[in-house]
Amino acid sequence: MQKKLEKIKKDFESQMKKVTDLVALDILEQKFFSRKNGEFTEMMKGLKDLAEDKRKEAGLLLNSIKAELENILQNKKSEFEMLAMGDLAMTEAIDVTQPYLGNISKGHLHPNTLIQYQLEDVFASMGFMSYDGPELESDYYNFTALNVPPEHPARDMQDTFYVKGHSDWVMRTQTSSFQVRAMQKFGVPLKLIVPGRVFRNESTDPRHEHTFYQLEGIVVGKDVSFGDMKGVLETVAKALYGEKTQMRLRPKFYPFVEPGVNGEITCSLCTGKGCRVCKYTGWMEIFGAGMVHRNVLKEAGVNHEEYQGFAFGFGLSRLVMLKYGIEDVRHLQSGDLRFLNQF
Ligand code: PHE
Repeated sequence: MQKKLEKIKKDFESQMKKVTDLVALDILEQKFFSRKNGEFTEMMKGLKDLAEDKRKEAGLLLNSIKAELENILQNKKSEFEMLAMGDLAMTEAIDVTQPYLGNISKGHLHPNTLIQYQLEDVFASMGFMSYDGPELESDYYNFTALNVPPEHPARDMQDTFYVKGHSDWVMRTQTSSFQVRAMQKFGVPLKLIVPGRVFRNESTDPRHEHTFYQLEGIVVGKDVSFGDMKGVLETVAKALYGEKTQMRLRPKFYPFVEPGVNGEITCSLCTGKGCRVCKYTGWMEIFGAGMVHRNVLKEAGVNHEEYQGFAFGFGLSRLVMLKYGIEDVRHLQSGDLRFLNQF
């Protein structure tokens, strides 16, 4: 018994030396002190096989070693927790003689983030909540639930990356994948936006990238109309590009809305006169939108006789490019500091 205890103690001490964080410490704690199958619990069970006169002595020894090791473990835990709280001052002195290191530049937000924050502010002012959806998504939420069953030709336009061995998982091709999730999670009425990263199998060029950003929105209620949708989208366009900005909607097919539109605003660079960026049309496409298709409402378990709503998806990367006059979408993901430091 005593030998065994000494061995446990040695094991504990040598493993303790290798612990560098709270997670490893937790694993160690389970191994030795778990009530169910920790080393000490197992020893405790062994006590009953000892002769009565030895049992008491062994029990005392076991308890004292257990207490000793537990104490070490708790101390280590507090140490890590203190570090985690950023309370470095408790464990490290500040070296007041250290020379001044000069102006270390602080870093700054990525242009995507800047536009995302700006949009989130505009939407928050209209009472929208902002939510995150998963980037690795089921085929179901990305396509099928959005009225795009397997074999539907609309899938061709959004080819993406599938996960080996899990053919029903995809990297989401659109933030629309959160529409049905949102209605299931929060119920209706609902007013929510989902900014996020999306993926497509593209051969890249200045206007196409395999990874880019969108901002989805969905509003569902008993008396939500197409006019409400237009009002919301116009408010956003003006907040981003100025009061004089005009917006127009043109019919466009998206399987998960009916009717569906694509939204254009007067080109922010030439203010509608026509330039290279807007291909001399004076208009720039910045979102897709429409009234949520009844099949989508049904899929989410929402009573489509009683409720209706609209959804929209902004090309966030597109907005960033237009706002800052960026000519190639690939800059945004390049990590090139010569580009990023301009923001
Ligand atoms: N998800 C669509 C796209 O990626 C955009 C969209 C969103 C259209 C919501 C209609 C409604 O092209």
